[in-house]
Amino acid sequence: MNHNAAIGVFDSGIGGLTVAREIARELPGETLIYLGDTARLPYGSKSAETVIKYAVRNVSFLAKSQLKAIVVACNTVSSVALPALREIVSVPVLGVIEPGARAAVAATRSGIIGVIGQPGTIRSGRYESAILQVASAARIYSRPTPLLVPLAEEGWVGTEVARLVLKEYLTPLVEKGIDTLVLGCTHYPLFKEQLNALFATEHPRDIVLVDSAVSIAVELRKLLTSQDLLADAQPPSHRFFATDSTETFARVGRNFWGEDFPQVLHVDL
Ligand code: DGL
Repeated sequence: MNHNAAIGVFDSGIGGLTVAREIARELPGETLIYLGDTARLPYGSKSAETVIKYAVRNVSFLAKSQLKAIVVACNTVSSVALPALREIVSVPVLGVIEPGARAAVAATRSGIIGVIGQPGTIRSGRYESAILQVASAARIYSRPTPLLVPLAEEGWVGTEVARLVLKEYLTPLVEKGIDTLVLGCTHYPLFKEQLNALFATEHPRDIVLVDSAVSIAVELRKLLTSQDLLADAQPPSHRFFATDSTETFARVGRNFWGEDFPQVLHVDL
């Protein structure tokens, strides 16, 4: 396989840029091809069948480029579609659930873990089963927290409205005694600072936040290293595609990616 082939990353929209950003930090020499299926967002409220159908289209598009791995940045897709995706491509397909679950087990001291995500991710029970696979005695409390996605996309992170929503969603989990919280959605890393502040003031207890974006970037580096597939020193040339307005992708996605995009291309799927 070509060392300098790209890494394909896809998500239902712009949220997966939090994952792409971590991969770019962890593997600065790698070229990423990112696809955001913004025309069909959100995936989190859709049925597993529909999400699998969309995910297959996304992977078929990415697979037209020369790739050495595909990262499923979307938690909703990772929770239901990996087996179907692995059937249609021969390169490794990595999802965010297992790396996040392993990081949660490594972080917890009490064994009481909270998981938040989009309704489809929570309904699938995949985080629970992945955590229990490595720590069968863990106690897991999950909650769908769908309002966080529009809040993040509106740029309302850090506002009083966001603080109240976070408090309302998380107080019941904190009351169960969680010491670790899995951020099971692409958008949630943006709330890390506000979550830490909320826990510090409202519930003076240390709660470790597990960001699956960081965990999957580390696993991807390990995989490429073990297969001797790291890119030769080359300036990476990332490419970004969106299925809806490229202008909106560039404007809203900037907060998630952390800098301006050189170019965003439109693709019809
Ligand atoms: N990317 C989705 C996830 O991580 C969040 C947005 C959506 O529901 O499409 O679950």
